Amino acid sequence: MPGRGTEAGPGLEEAGLRLDVEGPVATLTLNRPERRNAMTFAMWHAMAAVGRSLPEDVRVVVVRGAGPSFSAGIDLGMFAPGGEGERRFSGGADPAEADRFIAGLQEGFTWLRRPGVVSVAAVHGHAIGAGFQLALSCDIRVIADDTSFCMKEPALGLVPDLTGTKPLVEIVGVPRALELCLTARTVGAEEAARLGLAEIVTPRDGLDAAVRGLVDSLLAVNAGAAAATKRLLWQAPERTLEEQAAAERHEQIGRLRELFASRP
Ligand code: ACO
Repeated sequence: MPGRGTEAGPGLEEAGLRLDVEGPVATLTLNRPERRNAMTFAMWHAMAAVGRSLPEDVRVVVVRGAGPSFSAGIDLGMFAPGGEGERRFSGGADPAEADRFIAGLQEGFTWLRRPGVVSVAAVHGHAIGAGFQLALSCDIRVIADDTSFCMKEPALGLVPDLTGTKPLVEIVGVPRALELCLTARTVGAEEAARLGLAEIVTPRDGLDAAVRGLVDSLLAVNAGAAAATKRLLWQAPERTLEEQAAAERHEQIGRLRELFASRP
């Protein structure tokens, strides 16, 4: 069912994306199945635009892939001789301009961590390179049992730069992250769950139902409490116990004020 459009609407289809907004739930679908949802610069810019223009009442964002795979990562066509990658980043490119350009691409991923929404990656098939990083950018990963993750960038002479290194290290720690990235090996669903890379593993044909069940549970919780709790939890690793205790008090006072103010 088509959802409400957003300012980011025009251009989404050309960028290989589909956005369906149904009340508090937005579903962002990588929609280039014939290319295994390989991602282009245009797609990442469009994802950033979706983040900027998402209706304020959206509380959950589901990110999924159409066809047999979640995403085969960056569109390798961009690295073909004379392709967009070479044009932008060859030796003569201005480093400051290149830095700004990559920051713009990263924006397509970082908004998924903002407190007002809970982002859920619904992953099946391959999630390679940028596809793995996109799954890592989400708060929660629900994966089908045919999922395989691979951080392929180093094998191609690159680093993972779409904001995936921080969540990867947060989840598996530096030694395991090093082992995964520097061997570029494939991690199957069972191991992914064991490493904490997936919160829910489901048979392939149960993925949509598992995501729906999770979304219903997330929506059943008070919206303000959800946003405040997400803020607290994501900031916890950076803080001392005292700082976190102070942050809990601050958030709780806000919650209590709002709860009492809403009483008849
Ligand atoms: N970029 C561009 N086109 C791609 C990509 C990609 N990353 N991945 C797949 N395609 C294309 C294939 O070229 C093929 O096109 P064709 O039908 O014109 O021949 C089509 O999508 C289907 O791909 P197949 O390889 O036939 O599909 P299969 O299911 O057998 O394999 C797989 C899927 C494993 C994902 C394989 O396509 C693959 O290894 N792709 C490359 C993955 C990769 O190295 N990504 C870069 C990671 S690094 C980063 O993201 C920064």
